[in-house]
Amino acid sequence: MSENLANIAYIGATILFILSLGGLANPESSRRGNFYGILGMSIAILATVMGPQITTVGFPLIIGSLVVGGAIGLYAARKIQMTQMPELVALMHSLVGLAAVLVGFASYVDTAIVLMGVEKSIHEVEIYIGTFIGAVTFSGSLIAFGKLSGKIGGRPLLLPARHGMNLVGLLTVIYFGVQFIAAPDSQTGLMPLMVMTVIALLFGVHMVMAIGGADMPVVVSMLNSYSGWAAAATGFMLSNDLLIVIGALVGASGGILSYIMCRAMNRNFFSVIAGGFGTASGATSASTGIQTEGEITSVSAAETADLLRSAKNVVIVPGYGMAVAQAQHTVYEMTKILRALGVNVRFGIHPVAGRMPGHMNVLLAEAKVPYDIVFEMDELNDDFPLVDVSIVIGANDIVNPAAEDDPASPIAGMPVLQVWKSKTSIVMKRSMASGYAGVENPLFFKENNRMLFGDAKRMLDEVLGCLKS
Ligand code: TAP
Repeated sequence: MSENLANIAYIGATILFILSLGGLANPESSRRGNFYGILGMSIAILATVMGPQITTVGFPLIIGSLVVGGAIGLYAARKIQMTQMPELVALMHSLVGLAAVLVGFASYVDTAIVLMGVEKSIHEVEIYIGTFIGAVTFSGSLIAFGKLSGKIGGRPLLLPARHGMNLVGLLTVIYFGVQFIAAPDSQTGLMPLMVMTVIALLFGVHMVMAIGGADMPVVVSMLNSYSGWAAAATGFMLSNDLLIVIGALVGASGGILSYIMCRAMNRNFFSVIAGGFGTASGATSASTGIQTEGEITSVSAAETADLLRSAKNVVIVPGYGMAVAQAQHTVYEMTKILRALGVNVRFGIHPVAGRMPGHMNVLLAEAKVPYDIVFEMDELNDDFPLVDVSIVIGANDIVNPAAEDDPASPIAGMPVLQVWKSKTSIVMKRSMASGYAGVENPLFFKENNRMLFGDAKRMLDEVLGCLKS
């Protein structure tokens, strides 16, 4: 394929990727968005493999890698549960980072690339910055994977003078950057590049280790953004326009998503990066006068069915437990019956419910819940005083009143769904265990709250049985 034809294919792929991002912004158009993405990626791979930069010698190697990589991807996609998606995404980001580091080193030692003067310096700056971003993304994503999969504890590691350490690290990176650019040959330049890579790896570990459990969603989306910039940097190193454009698209959209999530959780973006939020800080609710012990009132499935049947307005708040129990289909069955009885049923979705952005929307869409009864937190929060029954299905942190009432709480300031303002709230979960942020929930002890203990799917089946009879 000629260079011109490859460039035309790249432009086509870029347009498809932009259309894909646009489509993914809305559940109704997301299928189409996915299709555009698949088409764009297929064109991009074909144009690259058939393009002028690939020699016939490299061809079998590329096909072999595609087959092996594709098989691993297919196996992972089939095997990974929906609830494990965030850790899979974190692992994928680490691969993008690793690729950027490897490309950085490879293009530095590649004797076939002969550049002089300013061009040489620009190429070296690209390599240095690209390798730095790649290494931070690689180690940071691995730690995020460890935290999300529970292999590493969620508590933030807050080293003394951590901001000072970061600053010293940054200054050292700049110092070695100057040495790197000034190096007369790649033999001499290799050492500063390696030192910087080690510092960048440590920086990635330190950055994510310092972030508390409750702020992990922001970190995942931030690493998504970094992986985009790492891909863009790889594009600069390889002079591949498509990688530059797509990397920038991912980098910018990931950055915007991180910002939106920070706003949704009432967090300052830079404070999240600096670490220390979302800690299980040990501030007990007892010390702040918030009730997290005392009487709780349990209900049975039959009583829950009665409460729901006699309600006019019902709000369902799904959370991570609904995903674990795979209860979304039963939830919709119940919704259909209640709607047929004339009950106004709506769903309230918190921006960080579950373990990834849009987690609940995906599950509800899979169960074919109509979009017009699914509402965002902000659209619903003022209505709770008029709601007869709020039913919380496997959610915890996102309905925790301590976020509003307890300034010492690790989730203080995070907006939550105010289910306790409805006439009755029913929380469906298996035990009194805390949620992802590891904080206790005073909602369970409120007078108008009822606890329906058990696996969400099993309990909903029972409620459904009672509603049907
Ligand atoms: P959580 O606060 O994690 O609470 C989920 C609750 O579901 C748990 O308390 C658990 O209690 C219950 N549960 C688990 N399995 C269940 C089952 N089979 N049946 C019934 N209940 C079950 O979830 P949430 O309210 O959705 O809040 C999300 C949290 O995750 C936030 O802290 C958020 O910051 C964090 N997070 C979010 C994301 C994104 S982007 N959404 C990413 C990473 C982290 P039992 O064990 O007692 O059943």
